Amino acid sequence: MKSKSSSKKATRTPVASRIEVRCSGIHGKGVYATARIRKGARIIEYTGRRLPWKKAMDLAPHHPDDPHHTLLFSLDNGDVIDASAGGNDSRWINHSCNPNCETMEEDGRIFVYALRGLRPDEELFYDYKLVPAERRTKKTEKKFTCLCRTTKCRGTMLEPKKRRTSRRKKAVPARRNRAAR
Ligand SMILES: C[S@@+](CC[C@H](N)C(=O)[O-])C[C@H]1O[C@@H](n2cnc3c(N)ncnc32)[C@H](O)[C@@H]1O
Ligand SMILES: [Zn+2]
Repeated sequence: MKSKSSSKKATRTPVASRIEVRCSGIHGKGVYATARIRKGARIIEYTGRRLPWKKAMDLAPHHPDDPHHTLLFSLDNGDVIDASAGGNDSRWINHSCNPNCETMEEDGRIFVYALRGLRPDEELFYDYKLVPAERRTKKTEKKFTCLCRTTKCRGTMLEPKKRRTSRRKKAVPARRNRAAR
């Protein structure tokens, strides 16, 4: 994903101390706010070991019972961050199709920002916009079924399908997060 605005690059103290990992109502563990977090706050960095996408695809699934469970996050240079090694609490943030957080790549690092003000006890979510390693089909979408239960749910954690643009309209390249697998 591309950095969006230079204003967000300003050095701010991460508010990682205002979050904690708890059981999620959506899936497994999740990350919750323990105090108010203001809109635009940089919450936490998505950390882990870095490796080329191809190497990451050769890794054995870390959850053999759930082979589509992913801890990978793609970078613009083609590498991925694998949070199964060196990952912090950010690796437990779940996906929502109507998220309250977003991720930004800045100088090859991924940060999670609050899209709006967050209240204590709210679960944090960002839109994974997953890019599958295989061709996108209904079957692939189903492998990555979303359980976010929001009115905007796409039914899948895969990235939204690209809309066809009218021939006369100039196509603008989209910015997007890329998570892998
Ligand atoms: C980075 S982990 C997030 C933490 C996860 N809840 C756990 O306990 O391992 C990502 C995985 O969580 C699951 N997940 C996250 N958000 C989900 C959602 N909205 N619907 C279904 N599964 C979800 C998927 O298996 C996904 O591959
Ligand atoms: Zn959803």
